[in-house]
Amino acid sequence: MSEEFAIDVRGLTKRFAGRAVVDALDIRVRRGEICGFLGPNGSGKTTTIRMLCGLLDADAGEGSCLGHDIRREARRIKRRVGYMTQRFGLYEDLSIEENLDFVARAYGMSARRRVVDEALVQLGLQGRRRQLAGTLSGGWKQRLALATCMLHEPELLLLDEPTAGVDPKARRDFWQQIHSLAAQGLTVLVSTHYMDEAERCHRLAYISYGKLLAAGTAEEVIAHAGLHTWELRGEQLGAASTLLQSDARWMVVPFGSAVHVSAPRGEDLPAWLAERASGHAWRVTPIATGLEDVFIALTQHAQDNFA
Ligand SMILES: Nc1ncnc2c1ncn2[C@@H]1O[C@H](COP(=O)(O)OP(=O)(O)O)[C@@H](O)[C@H]1O
Ligand SMILES: [Mg+2]
Repeated sequence: MSEEFAIDVRGLTKRFAGRAVVDALDIRVRRGEICGFLGPNGSGKTTTIRMLCGLLDADAGEGSCLGHDIRREARRIKRRVGYMTQRFGLYEDLSIEENLDFVARAYGMSARRRVVDEALVQLGLQGRRRQLAGTLSGGWKQRLALATCMLHEPELLLLDEPTAGVDPKARRDFWQQIHSLAAQGLTVLVSTHYMDEAERCHRLAYISYGKLLAAGTAEEVIAHAGLHTWELRGEQLGAASTLLQSDARWMVVPFGSAVHVSAPRGEDLPAWLAERASGHAWRVTPIATGLEDVFIALTQHAQDNFA
């Protein structure tokens, strides 16, 4: 049994209709750590999370979640894990209080009254306990959803895109909450598409087509990708993009009024441009490679391999 890791799985695999949507995935998350789970839509994040908490049987793979065997001890894992589903699992036509009570019942908690009251106080929603959950703002729905999956005092939180469609202020508050929970010893695996959120995680795991493509701290993931990045500014950036996209070595991403171009180390963008568009007026400046550049590059490679 692994004490150091809250999640420690190897070779996790799930097939739907013969297609591996999670493909021999190895994931380790240390206790007390916030691990960001990233990847394009359809890359297998939700499927992985459902296997980790015992809601879905893996077709292959082994390992443990909170020290329990993921294949044989799903019931025990469920008791100690809080799972926030991708579309908040709230009942819109139940009140705030009824939502909390419903979940407390589902967990067979004996001190339901007290647990629900405490949660309402912690949320600061005592005065609005009878309000229908469906009438809450996005940020409040998300806080309520988090409170419901914390009722049974889990040791591991699996959060599936918890901040999708939530405004920036609410997202920031949410992340403060996540960090204070982690400081109390909770382990968090959180899937997200937001780069600012990825940067708030202790470690990251990036998957595409069900395969783990990168793992480690943000710095490690960036260093390991081995990319060089330049920023292009000036007139007619569209023409620059078109030119660069004609060569597969360049990854071209618009960033506001500039264009970021990444390539494996060893490629020389200024020299390449001088050769193909001599006398061009674009300003080319080397910049630090960011997480987003890395993820776009990884996804592009994965697509090429897949094709
Ligand atoms: N129950 C299912 N039956 C068949 N295919 C599924 C099922 N659940 C997910 N998939 C497919 O598996 C792939 C991964 O989905 P998912 O895990 O939801 O990805 P993500 O959460 O990263 O967007 C997708 O192609 C999806 O269509
Ligand atoms: Mg998903």
